[in-house]
Amino acid sequence: MERPEIKTELPGPKAKQIIERDAKVMSTSLTRDLPLVVERARDVWVYDVDGNKFLDMTSGVGVTNVGHTNPQVVEAIKNQLDKFLHYIGTDFYYEIQVTLAEMLNDIRPFTEPARVFYTNSGTESVECSIKLARYKQRRPIFIGFMGAFHGRTIGALSFTSSKPVQRRYFSPMVPQVVHIPFPDTFRPPEGVMPEKVTDFVIWYLNRVFETVAPPEDVAAVLIEPIQGEGGYNVPPSDFFPRLKAELDKYGIYLIVDEVQSGMGRTGKMWAIEHFGVEPDIVASAKGIASGIPMGACIAKASIMDWDLSAHSNTYGGNPVASASAIETIKLLRGGLIDNARVVGEYFKSQLRELQKKHEVIGDVRGIGLMLAIDFVKDPVKRDFNTELRNKVEQEAFKRGAICIAAGKSAIRFAPPLTLQKEHVDVVIEILDDAIKAALG
Ligand SMILES: Cc1ncc(COP(=O)(O)O)c(C=O)c1O
Repeated sequence: MERPEIKTELPGPKAKQIIERDAKVMSTSLTRDLPLVVERARDVWVYDVDGNKFLDMTSGVGVTNVGHTNPQVVEAIKNQLDKFLHYIGTDFYYEIQVTLAEMLNDIRPFTEPARVFYTNSGTESVECSIKLARYKQRRPIFIGFMGAFHGRTIGALSFTSSKPVQRRYFSPMVPQVVHIPFPDTFRPPEGVMPEKVTDFVIWYLNRVFETVAPPEDVAAVLIEPIQGEGGYNVPPSDFFPRLKAELDKYGIYLIVDEVQSGMGRTGKMWAIEHFGVEPDIVASAKGIASGIPMGACIAKASIMDWDLSAHSNTYGGNPVASASAIETIKLLRGGLIDNARVVGEYFKSQLRELQKKHEVIGDVRGIGLMLAIDFVKDPVKRDFNTELRNKVEQEAFKRGAICIAAGKSAIRFAPPLTLQKEHVDVVIEILDDAIKAALG
């Protein structure tokens, strides 16, 4: 069985030097929990500059869904590189971006035909989505969720709320974004039973409608179908149908942020497809182009009918990014989404076995290959065990597994969707040892 190989102390000598240079010239705002300096990456394996080999549980944070440096994607990019790198696709035409839009239309998670606006990142897809909703609705108010992460530009940041540090000193935000609680069944609001969490959130939404946000003035609700940075929180199955029913009463749009949960990660192309409702607008990025910066706002055609020049950019639909995205979608539909479902179920079952051995694992949650374990101090009180989580992250790294945090006390698993069951066995073994070591 192929395994991680750790040959040096971590960070190794070359990595140490680069980290020292980085510390002098890079923005001080960047969070690097693990001292990993990447030299190359293939499939589920990442190699650092000192020759250490790691099993990747992050996909570069939900980006390389088709496996690192996938040869088919690389080939498609190389072919495009020989043709042309850029020709502003928002002012002129080229076929490859049309072909990709047609493919995105084929995979849209709603019945009505779609139109596409290309972006360069997740935050820009979110900006486009909220601008589009505001423009079409001519309504000023938005609803977002506590614990959400939608990006860092001011529009998206006005919804982001997974950590105070993301917002501190950046106000004023976009006005009239009202946050309501996310339906968290593992840590429901005090006094609310887990099975009543949807009731509570819908009650709260209606209180918001009756007080600060008259529903006729609400343009849209923006939500991650599964909260990502906030902790891989999965809403209960009755939540989206009930939310959508409330929104439909007032013609409020449902915008889903699929930047992290989309592109096959959950065993369906879009995570919202697990929940039986159709969104009006989808914000996508990360996994869409396997590492070449790209995003897309995919909306119902009847919504994306704004006037000429109302919204545009320079690099949207870049031909190299489009080539990468086309190949990525082919690979996802050609078996990787199914693999995410099958291996994801196995992974989750193995995490549950691990939970039986370690009562510090309070919760195992997620769908497909978007999974997390949540560390608690006490299994009954379910209080956040941030310190232990951080130690486990470090201990797993020392043993060759790259796992990163989500929320206050969870470790997330978002590996390439090429992951196999034998890789899962290796990770579980590493986690078992890492938890024992962290517990001392
Ligand atoms: C759900 C979600 N939305 C938006 C973003 C922002 O994407 P980007 O960093 O590409 O701007 C992220 C990034 O982690 C995300 O997870």
